[in-house]
Amino acid sequence: MERKPVIFGNGNGQRAPFESRIGLLFCSLVRIVMIAALMTTATGNAAETGLHNLIRVSDRIYSGAGPEDEADFDAIRKLGANTILSVDGARPAVDAAHAKGMRYIHVPIGYDGITREQAAQLSQAMEDTTGTIYIHCHHGQHRGPAAAALAWRLSSDCSVTSATEVLKQAKTGKDYKGLWAAMNMEDLPALRREHPTLVETAKVADLAARMVLIDNAMDRLDEARKAGWTAPPNHPDVDPAQEALMVQEHFHEIGRMNDSKFQEDFHRWREQAEGLAKQLREDLKTNNTTSAATHYGDLRQSCRSCHTAHRDNRR
Ligand code: HEC
Repeated sequence: MERKPVIFGNGNGQRAPFESRIGLLFCSLVRIVMIAALMTTATGNAAETGLHNLIRVSDRIYSGAGPEDEADFDAIRKLGANTILSVDGARPAVDAAHAKGMRYIHVPIGYDGITREQAAQLSQAMEDTTGTIYIHCHHGQHRGPAAAALAWRLSSDCSVTSATEVLKQAKTGKDYKGLWAAMNMEDLPALRREHPTLVETAKVADLAARMVLIDNAMDRLDEARKAGWTAPPNHPDVDPAQEALMVQEHFHEIGRMNDSKFQEDFHRWREQAEGLAKQLREDLKTNNTTSAATHYGDLRQSCRSCHTAHRDNRR
């Protein structure tokens, strides 16, 4: 079902349970009004200012790519936003936001889903602020829309169906299963009662922490490999292609860390590892187990090579 990226339908394609249908109806009405109001404005802004993947999620929430320059901050301000919420791992440009009279809230999330702790922060962000909030990750396609849709659910009790519709509109990758699953998060009232403290710049996973996550995903891949590239018997929920995608994304995010202590050859190893994880994922999606075995072996070798060069012989 193709729709213009900025505009939302009402998500009525699927039946929802009675109580969520009331929410759905309400959300639908809001959206129908918004469609009329935004047909010109949001589309126009996106085209004029280069805010990529801009979508309006609700009367208070926009989702889009991370602001890169002053013009982007101006564009966000022009949307009426007084708060920017980043779910990206990069350090938010807090000063640039302040200069335009906006506040930042930082709730970094992973590509594997949204934890209840993070969801409680999204809820608090909606409660702590009034007016329009711009939610972004890096490209505005996967993590950002998921956080925006969940923030919408948390602040309005919209149905799972409506929240899921946001991800469809944003063209969030189907492979990011954890992000889609987050739309079904249960017991939202408990999250609303938590009231966590919000920060403008959160601590994010450093290289060592990312390596641990990569290592865990590689262990699950190894179990899947031993099970003939299917879910291992003791972990039926493991999806090998999904694990490869997470490894790929972690290596990608390491590349965005901007740490000057990493020299050029570090990034060559990193790029190679990211590329191998991507190839492995494609093998697994196409059930090419022979190629998967090769790329898995190459990926393991790239871990060793980079560790020899950059970890184990550090002076
Ligand atoms: C581009 C270089 C590079 C590649 C590729 C790489 N690593 Fe690492 N890894 C490092 C560096 C550097 C450290 C040390 C980080 C630190 O201590 O700050 C590290 C540390 C680790 C650690 C120890 C984390 C800790 O607790 O301190 C694990 C485990 C690890 N890597 C697993 C892997 C696996 C598995 C792969 C392959 C899928 C891999 N790494 C690929 C550079 C790399």
